[in-house]
Amino acid sequence: MTPQTVSTTPIEGQKPGTSGLRKKTRVFMRPGYLENFVQSVFDAIGGAEGKTFVVGGDGRFFNRAAIQTILRMAAANGAARAIVGRDGLLSTPAASHLIRLNGTDGGLILSASHNPGGENADFGIKFNTPNGGPAPEGVTNGIFRRTTEIDRYLILDTDDIDLSSPGEHALGGMTVAVVDPVADYEALMETLFDFDALRALFAGGFTMRFDAMHAITGPYATAILERTLGAPVGTVINGTPSEDFGGGHPDPNPVWAKPLMDEMMGAEAPDFGAASDGDGDRNMIVGRGTYVTPSDSLAVLAANAHLAPGYADGLAGVARSMPTSAAADRVAEAMGIACYETPTGWKFFGTLLDAGKATLCGEESAGTGSNHVREKDGLWAVLLWLNILAKRGMPVAEIMADHWARYGRNYYSRHDYEAVPVEAANTLMSDLRAALPDLPGRAFAGMTVKKADEFAYRDPVDGSLSEGQGLRLWFEGGARGVLRLSGTGTDGATLRVYLEQYAGPEEDHGRDAQEALAGVRDAVAEAARIEALLGRSAPDVVT
Ligand code: G1P
Ligand code: ZN
Repeated sequence: MTPQTVSTTPIEGQKPGTSGLRKKTRVFMRPGYLENFVQSVFDAIGGAEGKTFVVGGDGRFFNRAAIQTILRMAAANGAARAIVGRDGLLSTPAASHLIRLNGTDGGLILSASHNPGGENADFGIKFNTPNGGPAPEGVTNGIFRRTTEIDRYLILDTDDIDLSSPGEHALGGMTVAVVDPVADYEALMETLFDFDALRALFAGGFTMRFDAMHAITGPYATAILERTLGAPVGTVINGTPSEDFGGGHPDPNPVWAKPLMDEMMGAEAPDFGAASDGDGDRNMIVGRGTYVTPSDSLAVLAANAHLAPGYADGLAGVARSMPTSAAADRVAEAMGIACYETPTGWKFFGTLLDAGKATLCGEESAGTGSNHVREKDGLWAVLLWLNILAKRGMPVAEIMADHWARYGRNYYSRHDYEAVPVEAANTLMSDLRAALPDLPGRAFAGMTVKKADEFAYRDPVDGSLSEGQGLRLWFEGGARGVLRLSGTGTDGATLRVYLEQYAGPEEDHGRDAQEALAGVRDAVAEAARIEALLGRSAPDVVT
């Protein structure tokens, strides 16, 4: 079978510095659009000849067609083998695991994460390197450069491969291995967690609700929680992946997972609730009557991870993204282990994990993970929580109260201003950036600025420098505000304002978070002139 060489012209591709390409689905469906990106990946990594790739996605609209195209292109580019999840399905952490487990040359993961799916919604693709993690900037910049100069792509003219059952198929000179998307991932989880203790937990009547949000973790959660660990059928809800996620927004937070939140705050609440996002890398943790912020979750997991067999020897270190609260820092300090503060985005954890400097990582945006893969992992976080609950034998609310009594509480919330005109958002950031040196000592809404800067990060492993990673304002009295523009929004600009207020071990930990943060919220709004520059008096999304 002779590969066809199709001539093409450069695409408006991946933004430099971002780990993947995310666009409206219809853009991806334009002739040659997906093909240009995929060919640019192969070209940028020195060709696909003789290589093995993992290919899979979260099942959103266009997933199936895109996978068939990628397989034809990989074969035309001389790849030896492609490992594909059955029906083209793989959660992002499971894909990361397969890339590592099989010693492959990387993988192409199809997803727009927590963004809605469908013909009129979002689609995305990214390349992960052989370590299983999102490609680092050197690689993504190479891919980006290639998309600006590409003039041809290679593809086979063949029928679709049948991906509906495990087995091997020949595609030109390439072998396509269709695998069960769950099996290897589940085997990995079994090495990390005490499955016997979890079985005993459920057998003892412990109740749980896992909302898969019509997305990829449905099959994973059903297999592990219900089939293997014996949780009753119905523990997993919205467990069948649909192409448009049931018309919803598969983002596991109190806003988009409101039905789960309502159940957990109600009279009939189960003991434990959790949710995951479109591609399975994010998580939400909620106990009966108690929402756990992702920042607090990271801190609690760090403090208790040794209760799970995979972490019984302790942690090498903890890493968190800069806007994530400092709750984990206090745990790391008490345990005498390193704590790293990285820019937003999972890729920055990769070097720390590879170098053995950090074991657990987390972001305020509901991403938590460890060195078991090189992506954040939603179901992993849920299983670690279950393992901790099984060993400590107390409800989530008590675990939180106990944690705060020991370390103090970092009240935390993120306020998002979405679909803001790009120019207005840029002006706000550049005005505030220019004002930073004059802010210390000045008071806004009654709060005095102690320190202000723009976050830059020098990777302690590879020495690379990432600048312009967010504006930070610390106030007297233990408050911090951070402002940055989203790199993943697809509509105008999104301004994210991250608010934090520390209350020490002896202080009140029972306040409403938004109320505890009202002071720093007003101070940041005034310092950054949010209302004047954006014309918005309140954020669109509060999480
Ligand atoms: C958002 C989150 C960030 C996460 C990324 C990918 O990026 O804030 O923590 O790593 O999605 O899931 P942002 O839109 O803020 O650039
Ligand atoms: Zn995701």
